[in-house]
Amino acid sequence: MDSILVKGGGELNGEIPIAGAKNACLTLMPATLLSEEPLTLTNAPRLSDIKTMTALLQSLGAEVTSLQGGKVLAMSSHDINNHKADYEIVRKMRASILVLGPMLARDGHAEVSLPGGCAIGARPVDLHLKGLEAMGAELDLRDGYVHAKATGGLKGGVVDFPFVSVGATENILMAATLAKGTTVINNAAREPEIVDLAECLIRMGAAISGHGTSTITVEGKDRLNGATHPVVTDRIELGTYMLVPAITGGSIELIGGRMSLVTAFAEKLAETGVEIEETQRGLRVSRKNGRVSAVDVKTEPFPGFPTDLQAQMMALLCTANGTSVLEETIFENRFMHAPELIRMGAQIDVQGGLAKVTGVERLKGAPVMATDLRASVSLILAGLAAEGETQVNRVYHLDRGYERVEEKLAACSASITRINGQ
Ligand code: UD1
Repeated sequence: MDSILVKGGGELNGEIPIAGAKNACLTLMPATLLSEEPLTLTNAPRLSDIKTMTALLQSLGAEVTSLQGGKVLAMSSHDINNHKADYEIVRKMRASILVLGPMLARDGHAEVSLPGGCAIGARPVDLHLKGLEAMGAELDLRDGYVHAKATGGLKGGVVDFPFVSVGATENILMAATLAKGTTVINNAAREPEIVDLAECLIRMGAAISGHGTSTITVEGKDRLNGATHPVVTDRIELGTYMLVPAITGGSIELIGGRMSLVTAFAEKLAETGVEIEETQRGLRVSRKNGRVSAVDVKTEPFPGFPTDLQAQMMALLCTANGTSVLEETIFENRFMHAPELIRMGAQIDVQGGLAKVTGVERLKGAPVMATDLRASVSLILAGLAAEGETQVNRVYHLDRGYERVEEKLAACSASITRINGQ
């Protein structure tokens, strides 16, 4: 397994291009199943999760061609000849559940392996299933699979989510585009990835309104057409790299970054004393001198502070002046980076969903273990600011969500190398 070696110390300066959003691309790709005509995505990120979704769609009979080194994905679902999403692929990536709604809407039947738990919590899919049932689907859970049927097709209905789920909103939104009649999704997720999906579906001929608010209305159509759609900028990659100059000092321009994608996060970052300005090409983040100040952070669904930036923000706050409290409200087990940061000299006290972080003047390099995608990059951030060498092991998590991380950081004069394992 590969690991990454970081030598911390100096300020970082330069520019970093921000890729298309992994989480948007993972829901835009299954949208190909809704049409017999081609769907082409531009600005796709080059990540292992995208390869996993490619393999899943191909296993169903879709054609997926990666062009321009992976930046363009040309897909066609003319011949879907298999309606079973196999455990061997689904277990690798929870987002695989997103093929369920589209397959069921298109052909009236689908079998998808249950994704099971993952490191950051139980993460059930009950909301996805209840939503499809509200649209007339008959579901049977057996042998670890969801067996779904909608004889005569899905019907529009009212889907009331008891709490916000990004994935469930996406699954129901896609399914509703081909259902008979009108679907109303209440308590829908408002994330930019949902808006991006809705915009792509509208290009494909779907009738959707209210995306970006808590109530989305969809008028079902008999068929959708092909389209070409650019994947929205990755706000989590953007936020992660905004933290680089914050933790090391220096100034970095994030090319393609937009404030509206990271408003709540940027407000918190600014509260720590970091400067953020909008430029013609994106955002510039600078920390000129001194330590950042402690701030309290609570994760919430969009437009709140994203859970996917909590680990990285914690890395910064480990070096802040004062004590910060981080509250994680989305996932029950998302402080696994804390013990690793403690190995680097951080002072963190975790009690349930709260982490109290007392900043230290300097972190110290150490061998650490990445436990999930966002945790792994938080350790790299910490390593960039630490004295000495940090070896981050198990970085396969990182490759799921960050393209060319070493190259992007090395271009800002970070000392970072990948050690190829077996
Ligand atoms: C998506 C993102 C993930 C991000 C998360 C929250 C993708 C591929 N992943 O994940 O990076 O951290 O949103 O912003 O886009 N839940 C249920 N039942 C369900 C569905 C969810 O109880 O049927 C719970 C989850 O366990 C979690 C919470 O709801 O506690 C929110 O999860 P959800 O918004 O669904 O996250 P994902 O779509 O899986």
